[in-house]
Amino acid sequence: MTFNLKELIHQSTGKARSLHEKNVNPVFSRVLEMIGFAHEYTEGEGCYLTTTEGVRVFDALSGYGVFGMGRNHPVIRQAIQQALDLPLPNLVQMDVCLLSGMLAEKLIQCAPGDRLEHVFFTNSGTESIEGAIKFARASTGRRRILYSKGAFHGLTTGALALNGDESFREGFGDLIPGMVRTDLEDLDGIERELKKEDVAAVIFEPIRGKGVFYPEDDNVYPSIQKLCRQYGALLIADEIQSGMGRTGKMWACQHWDLAPDILVCAKALSGGLIPVGAILYSDAVYKKVFSRLDRCVVHSSTFGQNVIAMAAGLASLHVFQEEKLPERAAQRGEQLLAGLRRLQSKHELIRGVRGKGLMIGIEFGSPKSLLLKPAWAILHSAQNGLFAQAVVIQLYRNHRILTQVAGHHQEIVKLLPPLIITEEEVDAILAAFDAVLEECRKFPGPVWSVGRQLVSAAAKQTLFART
Ligand SMILES: Cc1ncc(COP(=O)(O)O)c(C=O)c1O
Repeated sequence: MTFNLKELIHQSTGKARSLHEKNVNPVFSRVLEMIGFAHEYTEGEGCYLTTTEGVRVFDALSGYGVFGMGRNHPVIRQAIQQALDLPLPNLVQMDVCLLSGMLAEKLIQCAPGDRLEHVFFTNSGTESIEGAIKFARASTGRRRILYSKGAFHGLTTGALALNGDESFREGFGDLIPGMVRTDLEDLDGIERELKKEDVAAVIFEPIRGKGVFYPEDDNVYPSIQKLCRQYGALLIADEIQSGMGRTGKMWACQHWDLAPDILVCAKALSGGLIPVGAILYSDAVYKKVFSRLDRCVVHSSTFGQNVIAMAAGLASLHVFQEEKLPERAAQRGEQLLAGLRRLQSKHELIRGVRGKGLMIGIEFGSPKSLLLKPAWAILHSAQNGLFAQAVVIQLYRNHRILTQVAGHHQEIVKLLPPLIITEEEVDAILAAFDAVLEECRKFPGPVWSVGRQLVSAAAKQTLFART
């Protein structure tokens, strides 16, 4: 019998949920159902997903940020197709691969600062973080790494040790020692730690994915960089989510003119169709890690330089440049932020709007009006974050816009739309937010009754969100 993927998919369409409930992760499937997201999608193109019922959904989540250029971009598809058609020698291992050399060169050319001269390829964000931890330790001979409260760097055990949210760690036992949670805005505290001269690196997300936070004071990051240089520690920028044009510049570091010693990226680097990740790092770090002939593969990854991912990466960098995606993200981001700020002056439930480019957080807070105060209080006494979840549900249910809450126990909705979003689509998102928040003025009303359902669900188990 011949293998026919199209036919297999056709025969199984509509069974995704039952397959997952039986074989993958039934709890996740149940949570999706609880929040009204239990749909099966048959197509993804550009900014849109289509469900089995033929409903088109605007994707303001972009697969946790991987589809910066939209889903199934034709140039990426073509590059992957061409790579497959060319019977390329893949993963020879005892060779130096042409395509990874080419992609490394391009990445170095567009890297921020003047320190990044080498590239190590990986298969994911978290694997890039694992490598960065090892490189920082090997190159400084030091053990400790400072990371931010609220940070998210991935969920493998090394990256998990750098996680600022306890709930991700629960049940997984002791993690690698030496990871120190800090408030990155407390420069005195950072200096106190660095002065001990046993800190290998400070790792940070220029814009934190959980909650979309960054310092209000533009001097904070440059000051941390200066302190790192002063005390011999490295600066590691995690640009896994904020990189590749997302924030309106190719790298978020460029908003503060930073020159990290190590930069990690993944997600949008391949255009979303195949896993890829990369660690960009300085020559000084390289010389310490790969320091002798017998250490030439002291860190390696079997699939790291696979030619399909490398081809997709080359195509992706081409698309970012050709379609001016960082510039477009900056323009549409300004439009979206300005519109949301206008909504903030109209809707008392919006406490704050922040972000750069198309990485945006909308934070909600307790209303002043006597009518809504008790409704808000009921949601909060059950679990922080339920109001934002109710907004996410209504945006999806009534406006077919896929968003997410920005993290555990945060009243923040995050927007990560594809960078190809149009002016009209930005207006449509703004109109949808306006309509959902308008509904919130009614109590009892639809948003609060969604909230009430969440309260009873939360009483049984905690709702969760990633990224
Ligand atoms: C800032 C940041 N670092 C690391 C990761 C982990 O990446 P991955 O899920 O590819 O392991 C993520 C994923 O969301 C992220 O946003």
